[in-house]
Amino acid sequence: MGEKKKRILSGVQPSGKLHIGNYFGAIRQHLRLMSEGHECFYFIATYHSLTSLSDAGQVAAYTDEVARGYLALGLDPDKACFFRQTDVPEVTELAWILSCVTPMPLLQRCVSYKDKVAQGIAPNHGLFAYPVLQAADILIYKPHFVPVGQDQKQHIEVTQDIQTKFNNTFEKVFHYPEPYILDEVAVVPGIDGRKMSKSYNNTINLFDSQKDVKKAIMAIVTDSTPLEDPKDPDKDNVMALMRLFADKAEIAEWEGRYRAGGTGYGHAKKRLLEQFDETFGTAREKYRDLENDPDYVNDVLAAGAKKARAVAQATMDEVRAATGLVTAASVRK
Ligand code: ADP
Ligand code: TRP
Repeated sequence: MGEKKKRILSGVQPSGKLHIGNYFGAIRQHLRLMSEGHECFYFIATYHSLTSLSDAGQVAAYTDEVARGYLALGLDPDKACFFRQTDVPEVTELAWILSCVTPMPLLQRCVSYKDKVAQGIAPNHGLFAYPVLQAADILIYKPHFVPVGQDQKQHIEVTQDIQTKFNNTFEKVFHYPEPYILDEVAVVPGIDGRKMSKSYNNTINLFDSQKDVKKAIMAIVTDSTPLEDPKDPDKDNVMALMRLFADKAEIAEWEGRYRAGGTGYGHAKKRLLEQFDETFGTAREKYRDLENDPDYVNDVLAAGAKKARAVAQATMDEVRAATGLVTAASVRK
């Protein structure tokens, strides 16, 4: 990314509870880019969540969870512009305009759509058009980089294609955004050893009650090697998760204990729970405080939206002029 400060943009879908896969795979890097002093725009992708959720209570609750979660984990609203997608409705207007320069085969190739249908999500038009709305989200803020997990790489490529198509068809309004792939932690395993994902029900959630976190950690699947026997630290889910939390010295110590025998998986789970508390204890307390202060959270999101919307509206003025779309306001100017 280089030394110079860049404009960074990313979105997070409020489609479930935040889990440690989200943290190590995405949130931590979002916060790091913020502390490095880049100009960050992070938003809660509320419109996108409607492609998979249809319960209003859930949409609202998960939106609140992402808002509180990011703030509790260290998002500083003075350093990053943090807002709800819904508070910048211009993106839906842009999504329509971009739809009209998006070739069907570009969307038909998207694996995320095919994966979601394979998982049993009903294939509505929103799900199919999802990458166009994502392109609008990105292009409207003219960012240099879009930090996303590997799974989102194709959506950024679609955005790049749409950017080029629009600029060639009309005028050069949009910048060419680059993905910034967050593969530092390739895949965080879930408690059953598959990729941690809310769709597999194998998550350790960041802000669940202590009882539920403990329950999830104790339920991590292990083999049946007896306590006294040596164990392979490279073939165990508890150890795989511990590697995310512990420093090098502690990882080496636990690998030694595994290989020597006499340490049970239960011991490792107990330590993992402590590590979880050491890492997230403060954020979890802050999260509870924010639950009791919804006005603060709303104020942060409203201020973020005001700033983001000004950027979006300026881009839309250019887009409308470039496409010949006239509004009463623009005629009067
Ligand atoms: P889920 O798989 O639970 O539905 P999302 O797709 O909503 O999670 O995740 C949002 C982002 O969090 C992803 O784009 C990815 O960057 C990150 N992420 C989610 N699960 C993991 C995981 N198990 N390992 C690493 N990163 C993850
Ligand atoms: N599709 C992204 C995900 O599921 C969320 C998202 C929506 C996004 N709009 C975006 C990410 C714009 C980056 C930029 O993770």
